[in-house]
Amino acid sequence: MLEVNHLRKSFGKTEVVKGVTFTVDKGEAFGLLGPNGAGKSTTISMICGLLPYDSGEIKVDGFSVKEHQMEIKRKIGVVPQDIALYPTMSAHDNLIFWGKMYGLSGKQVVKKANEVLEFVGLLDRGKDKIETFSGGMKRRINIGAALMHQPELLIMDEPTVGIDPQSRNHILETVKELNKQGMTIIYTSHYMEEVEFLCKRIGIIDHGEVIAVGTKDDLVKRLSGGTVVKMEVNHFQNRLVEELNTLPLVEKVMVNDDKTELEILVSSGHQALGELVSTAIKNFIEVSSIKVQEPNLETLFLQLTGRSLRD
Ligand SMILES: Nc1ncnc2c1ncn2[C@@H]1O[C@H](COP(=O)(O)OP(=O)(O)OP(=O)(O)O)[C@@H](O)[C@H]1O
Ligand SMILES: [Mg+2]
Repeated sequence: MLEVNHLRKSFGKTEVVKGVTFTVDKGEAFGLLGPNGAGKSTTISMICGLLPYDSGEIKVDGFSVKEHQMEIKRKIGVVPQDIALYPTMSAHDNLIFWGKMYGLSGKQVVKKANEVLEFVGLLDRGKDKIETFSGGMKRRINIGAALMHQPELLIMDEPTVGIDPQSRNHILETVKELNKQGMTIIYTSHYMEEVEFLCKRIGIIDHGEVIAVGTKDDLVKRLSGGTVVKMEVNHFQNRLVEELNTLPLVEKVMVNDDKTELEILVSSGHQALGELVSTAIKNFIEVSSIKVQEPNLETLFLQLTGRSLRD
């Protein structure tokens, strides 16, 4: 359904997409996982034909994005990262607007708007203005807008940012259902658990480069024995981080925002536990809990980049 080959893009002198290559099969749900500024939205804008690229090639269902803009617009539905709805219009009218943009008309567009409202679980709110909706509801209508023309490929750019858990679950279930019905999905996020829930194959993108692609199992197998240990401490001192970093088994130490938990990437989890705790005690820091985390995509990301996905 999608082939992205050696795609490059610079803004001024800064190259932000550096030779991105990946493919997505028909009917697949593919996850694009990466931290802020990785180049996810820029890549998506180029796939949709909204942003010209400097070099490389993108083909959607065999059509080159450069040469076949119209065919591609019909095939793709995009859910942009920022809400693209008219606040003073009703949800129903917003959907009609987007449907007409995609060439639907008459009874067909009204019927489709109602179907979409029902699908996103907001049929009873159809007549209400978007400005009276909660953040989660707006997100759901934003997704609905991309579904009006029944696209073959749905590209979603962080569709669950800043919303309540209930709307988030609703969205995840909706996407799962669309994929089950045969729609190809590209799902962008920096939430590992969302991508894991929805997607069989995952591409990890960082600093404009795809640094790993594969199924979750493939990717986790690539971990070279590295393990993350989570250690909760009753108070925090920078000295502890410095000393932990000098231990031979320790590769990287990260501290959460409220400085109550350390994430420590070590080359061998169980062996390191004793040393980690004794280093804390030596610094008069009490350890309230410590556990070795099962290797997951977060661990892989940390190992590949030295950064946390949410950095
Ligand atoms: N129009 C633009 N002009 C200049 N720089 C840009 C422009 N759009 C994006 N960038 C830069 O390109 C880089 C990649 O941005 P992009 O929005 O693609 O990241 P992202 O992976 O979508 O991040 P996020 O998770 O925060 O949405 C960033 O450094 C950003 O500042
Ligand atoms: Mg983005």
